Amino acid sequence: MTDTASAAMLEINDLNSFYGESHVLHNVSFHVGRGEVVTLLGRNGAGKTTAMRSILGIVPKRCGSIRLCGKELVGLPRYQIPRLGIGYVPEERGIFASLNVIENLLLPPIIKKGGMELEQIFALFPNLNERASTQGTRLSGGEQQMLAIARVLRTGAELILLDEPTEGLAPVIVDQIELAIRTLKDRGFTILLVEQSFRFASKVADRHYILEEGHVVDMIPNAQLASKRAILNQYLGL
Ligand SMILES: Nc1ncnc2c1ncn2[C@@H]1O[C@H](COP(=O)(O)OP(=O)(O)OP(=O)(O)O)[C@@H](O)[C@H]1O
Ligand SMILES: [Mg+2]
Repeated sequence: MTDTASAAMLEINDLNSFYGESHVLHNVSFHVGRGEVVTLLGRNGAGKTTAMRSILGIVPKRCGSIRLCGKELVGLPRYQIPRLGIGYVPEERGIFASLNVIENLLLPPIIKKGGMELEQIFALFPNLNERASTQGTRLSGGEQQMLAIARVLRTGAELILLDEPTEGLAPVIVDQIELAIRTLKDRGFTILLVEQSFRFASKVADRHYILEEGHVVDMIPNAQLASKRAILNQYLGL
């Protein structure tokens, strides 16, 4: 194993992913270091969600290499992958409508030691504490998003995949999500974040990979974002 591989929490090399005949990701390579917050930025349909689903093995076909702490995920049965320490917060959030906040929180199984306690989760998202016995259907979009994030923090997952967590949310809620991501980083979580809002991404992330039509076309350290603004706007069609 190389030094880079052992240092990276997630190391993806030459990933190709397909839906039937449709070849969506093309030789995608990127890595996320332990404790880093890294974004995948790109236009609609660029392949951001597919990249996350590929990590979890929930695309119909993928090849290449996806290593978590050096362990190869490609070839593993898909049910084993989250248990290795990956928490997935999908775009559609997946809150169970008939369960209340506490029941939703307690549903995912503990996969590893070291997950957050309920009190710590409620300190991070005080709104959820106030709504503890409220049914999923009665939560606002922002509360559902917070619950979707909160739910994976208990499990002991160390790598969190967040797909567009701020989509459609009011600015005051977006600020709370931003604070939560910063706090999770401080606590040592590693985060891969898909975002359409480069403004939001620039406030929380260490580095950004740009996906264009299924290809990684650039990597921009957050400190260089301002100087690369013009090219970024071009990539994102802003
Ligand atoms: N289940 C599927 N079956 C067939 N094609 C799909 C499927 N899901 C996505 N695709 C196609 O794969 C490509 C990448 O889609 P993906 O959802 O990964 O993009 P994205 O970057 O997440 O976009 P968005 O910003 O709209 O969420 C698109 O061309 C899309 O039409
Ligand atoms: Mg998507």
